[in-house]
Amino acid sequence: MPPLDTAKPGIPPGATARATGQPLDRIDGPDKVTGRAVYAGDIAEKGLLYGMVVNATIPRGRIVALDIAPALRIPGVVEVFSHLNRPDLAWFNSAYEDDDAPPGTHFRPLYDDRVHWSGQPIALVVAEDFETARHAAGMIGVTYESEPHEADLYRAAGNAHVPRQRSSINPSSRGRADLAMAEAALRVEGDYTFGYQFHNPMEMHASTVLWRDGALEIWDKTQSVVNSRDYVCRIFGLKPDQVRVRSPYVGGAFGSGLRPQYQLFMAVMAAQVLGRSVRVVLSREQMFTFGYRPLALQQIALGADANGHLTAIRHDAVQNTSRLEEYQENIVPWSGLIYQCPNVTMKYRLAELDLYTPLDTRAPGAATGVNAFEQAIDAMAHEAGIDPLEFRLINYAERDQTTGMAFTSKQLRACYATAAERFGWSARKPLPRSMREGRELIGWGVATGVWEAMQMNCSARAVMGPEGLMVELAASDIGTGTYTILAQIAAETMGVDPSEVDVRIADSDLPKAPLQGGSAGAATFGSAVKAACETLRETLSRLAVALPQSPLAGKGNVPLQFEGGTIRAEDGSAELPLADLIATCGAQEARADTGPSTASQMRYSRYSHSAVMAEVRVDEELGQIRVTRVVGAVAAGRILNPKTAASQVSGGIVWGIGKALHEEGLLDERLGRFMNHNFAEYHIPVNADIPEIDVIFVPEEDPEVNALGIKGVGEIGVVGTAAAIANAVFHATGRRVGSLPITPDKLL
Ligand code: MOS
Repeated sequence: MPPLDTAKPGIPPGATARATGQPLDRIDGPDKVTGRAVYAGDIAEKGLLYGMVVNATIPRGRIVALDIAPALRIPGVVEVFSHLNRPDLAWFNSAYEDDDAPPGTHFRPLYDDRVHWSGQPIALVVAEDFETARHAAGMIGVTYESEPHEADLYRAAGNAHVPRQRSSINPSSRGRADLAMAEAALRVEGDYTFGYQFHNPMEMHASTVLWRDGALEIWDKTQSVVNSRDYVCRIFGLKPDQVRVRSPYVGGAFGSGLRPQYQLFMAVMAAQVLGRSVRVVLSREQMFTFGYRPLALQQIALGADANGHLTAIRHDAVQNTSRLEEYQENIVPWSGLIYQCPNVTMKYRLAELDLYTPLDTRAPGAATGVNAFEQAIDAMAHEAGIDPLEFRLINYAERDQTTGMAFTSKQLRACYATAAERFGWSARKPLPRSMREGRELIGWGVATGVWEAMQMNCSARAVMGPEGLMVELAASDIGTGTYTILAQIAAETMGVDPSEVDVRIADSDLPKAPLQGGSAGAATFGSAVKAACETLRETLSRLAVALPQSPLAGKGNVPLQFEGGTIRAEDGSAELPLADLIATCGAQEARADTGPSTASQMRYSRYSHSAVMAEVRVDEELGQIRVTRVVGAVAAGRILNPKTAASQVSGGIVWGIGKALHEEGLLDERLGRFMNHNFAEYHIPVNADIPEIDVIFVPEEDPEVNALGIKGVGEIGVVGTAAAIANAVFHATGRRVGSLPITPDKLL
C-alpha cells in the first residue's frame, strides 16, 4: 500500500504565470478528507506485531521488581521488553543528540531501573494484535522504590539558575533599569503565570517499523524524517542505507515531532530483536507523558514618563526543566526588542523538576514571554490613560532595540492600522466596564505579536522528465501546506502549472532537509526547491539553444523565458515546448543546496509581526468568558498561498484562545503527575469556543530576508493572541488576570 502513489488533485489548472500568491487548495487536502492519506499508524502488513508501552506511575525512584508472567501467559503476547532484557544498544555507549536536543543527558528508554518522571516508558508489551497488547500491558506488575521528588516550581524557583549554554536566552541589559524605574512618573508591576500546555495533535505519535531482513522501512510521525533516521542509526548501530524513514502525512505536530519520541525507539527495538514488523502507537493519555510547554513564572515591571514613553523595563522569568536536560526558550529577549526604551533588564532562569524535559511547543518562548509582556504594556497604557493601541504607536521601534540593527522589513504600523480598521477599534470606549450588553460585559483588547524569520540549510532536487516536473527533498508537511507551496514555487520557477508538479517529500532517502519547525519551513524548503529549479532551468536553456533541430537553436544571446510549459525567446521569435526538449534529450535533473544569506543575516534583524485585536463578552454572574471576535493582521513578507497561510494563522489564534481561556496541564505536585491527560479534562477549544477569526496579511516587500521574500506564518498567530484576550478581559471587567488560562474562578 504505497500512499505516495495516490493522485494529488486539488490545484485548479491555469494559474501558471504567478503561481505563488494564489490561494490554491492543498494538494494533500482531498487525500486527508477522503481517508486516502495513510498515516504512520495506518500502514498495514501481514504479520505486523503491536506494541503497547507501560509507563511509570511514580515521579522518582527505581523499579525493584517487574512481574511480567501474567502478561506473558496471555495468548498472543510475544514478548515483554524492559530494562532487564533490552538489547545492548549502540546509543547506550555514546552520547547522542537529536536535532532538537537541549544540553544535558538525554533520556535513554529502558536503560536501567531508574525512574525520572511519572509517565516514563518502562516496558513494552508486544502482541499479535493491538487489543491483546493493550490488555497485557495492564497486567504488568511494577514494584517501585520511591524517592523524594520535587514537582512544585513555586518551591523550586528559589534554587533556579541562569542557564549557561545559550547567551541569546539572557540578552545583556541596557541603561539602568533600576534607577529609571525609581524615577519613573508611572510604574506598573505584575506577576504572570502561564500553566503547562500540551501539543495534542489530532494524530497521535506512532511508528510502524517494517522489518526487511535487517533493513528497516519506518513510517514515523515526525517533523523530520532525517532526524528520526539518524536517531535510529545511531542508537541501533545501523547505517543510513539500512534505515528509511517516511512520513508523507502528519496529522499536526506543533513541536511534538521535533524530537524522536519513545514509541520510535520501542518499535525499532522490538523489530530488531524479534525480526518482525512492529507498530507502536501512543494512546491519547500517553501523549501527556513526554514534552510539553513548561510552566513559567514571570514578573514584569514597566516605568514610563507622564507622556507614556517607556523609560524602564524589567522582565524576570523562571521556567521548569527536567533533571535530565536543560531545556530553555527565548522568553525575555522580546521585551527588549519590541518597543523603544533606554533602560532594560531581562533575566531568565531555570529550575529542575522531577518531570520529563519540556519540548518546543508552538511559538516556544514568545507564546510565553510576549503574551505576558503585552499584558504589562496594556497595564501601563491604562496607567498612563492612553489608548492601548496609541500607546504602542508612541513607543514604536523602527530598529531592533537590542542590536540597533534595521529590520529587513517591519510593517507593524500597517498591521495596527489594518487591524484597527477591520475591528472598528475607534469605537472603543476607553474605560473598563464601560461597554455592556444585557448581563454581559464587553471588552476589546489589543496586543502585538512578533516571531523570528529563520531559514536553515537544505537540499533539493528537481527533475524534468517525460512525466513532467518533479521536485523532491526530505522535508515534512506537518499539515502546514508545504506540499502545496513547494508545487507553487516550482511551477512558477519552471513556467508550468502547479497541478503538473509532482512534489515528493518526507522520505529520508531524498535530499537532506532539516526539521520543519520554527516557522522556517517555507523559507528553508522553498529556497532549496527554487534554487534547484533555477539550476534546472539553466540546464534546459543551454540544451534548447544547443540542439541543432531546436527552434531556439543559436538563440544564445536572446533572453529566454519559461512560460506555459515552453521555453520562449523573449523577443517572441521562437519557442520550444519543454516536452519536446525532454523527448529529444531525455530527463534532466538539477540539485541545489541552500542556506541563509550570511551577508544579510549580519546586517539585519529578521522578524514577522502582527497586531491582534480581540473582543470578549463576560457573563458577570458566572465569570464565563466568550471570545466573540478576533482580528489578526500579519506582516510576514510575501505570502506564497493566502489560503494555507491564513489557515496557519487562524490555527495559531485558536491556540491563543486555548491558552487564554482553556488549556492547562494540571500537575498534582504531591504525585508529580499530570492529572488531566485527556480531552475531557484538558480542554482544547472546540468549534463552540471559536468565533469568526479574521486574518489579514499586510503587504510587506522584503528583498533581504531570503530569495523568496518570505517569512514564516506557522507560529506568529499564537503570539499576542492570549494577551489580546486577557487585555480584553481587563477592559470588560477591570480585572487584570495575569495567570493563564483565565478560568471563571479567577474572575469571581
Ligand atoms: Mo514548532 S514548536 O518549531 O514545531
